[in-house]
Amino acid sequence: MLSSYRSFVETTVPKDELIVSRTDLNGYITYANDVFAEISGYTPQELVGKPHSIVRHPDMPSSVFKDLWKVIKSGSIWRGYVKNLRKDGAYYWVYAEVSGVYKDDKLVEYKSLRAPVDESQKVKFQDIYDALRKREEGSCRIVTNISIENYEKLKKLSSEENISQEKILNHVLSDLLL
Ligand SMILES: Cc1cc2nc3c(=O)[nH]c(=O)nc-3n(C[C@H](O)[C@H](O)[C@H](O)COP(=O)(O)O)c2cc1C
Repeated sequence: MLSSYRSFVETTVPKDELIVSRTDLNGYITYANDVFAEISGYTPQELVGKPHSIVRHPDMPSSVFKDLWKVIKSGSIWRGYVKNLRKDGAYYWVYAEVSGVYKDDKLVEYKSLRAPVDESQKVKFQDIYDALRKREEGSCRIVTNISIENYEKLKKLSSEENISQEKILNHVLSDLLL
C-alpha cells in the first residue's frame, strides 16, 4: 500500500537522456546506466542483481508484463508505456522498448531502452491501466485518511502475519459486510 504523499509525486524523465538496463533471462538486472539509477532513486549497485520488478508500480496491471514476457521470449520487441515506482515512493512514466540481446544467434540477455512520455499519453495510459486492473484483477485505487492508530495496527499486523495491508483490509471488510 502506498501510504505517503510521495506516491503523488512524479519525477520526469529528462528529454535528451535514455534509461538503459539489461537483465539476465530471468529478469534480474545485470546492468543499469546512471540515468536509470538517478530516475529510480537507487544507485546502479543497488539495482544490479535485483529483479526488474524492483521498480514495479502497483498501478501496473499484471497482464501488461505477461504480454511483455510473451513478446520478448518469442524474439520480438515489446513496446509500451510503463509507470514505475521510485525507491522513495514517487513514480515516473517511461515509453519502453524491451528485446533480446543475441550473441552468435543465441539469446543471452534482455535489454530495455526507455524514453520520456508526454502528458497526454500518461493520462491516457493511467486510464487504460486503471480499467484493466478493474476488469482483470477486480481492484481499484482509493485515496482516503484513517487514524494513525488504526494505520499503525494495520502495519503491525501486516508485518507480523506477512500479509499485505490491502489483503487485511479486504478480509476485514468482507467479514464485516457479509
Ligand atoms: C529488460 C527488461 C526490462 C524491464 N523493465 C521493467 C520496468 O521498467 N518496470 C517494471 O515494472 N517491469 C519491468 N520488467 C518486467 C519485470 O521483469 C516484471 O515482469 C514486472 O515488473 C512484473 O513483476 P512480477 O513478475 O513480480 O509481477 C522488465 C523486464 C525486462 C526483461
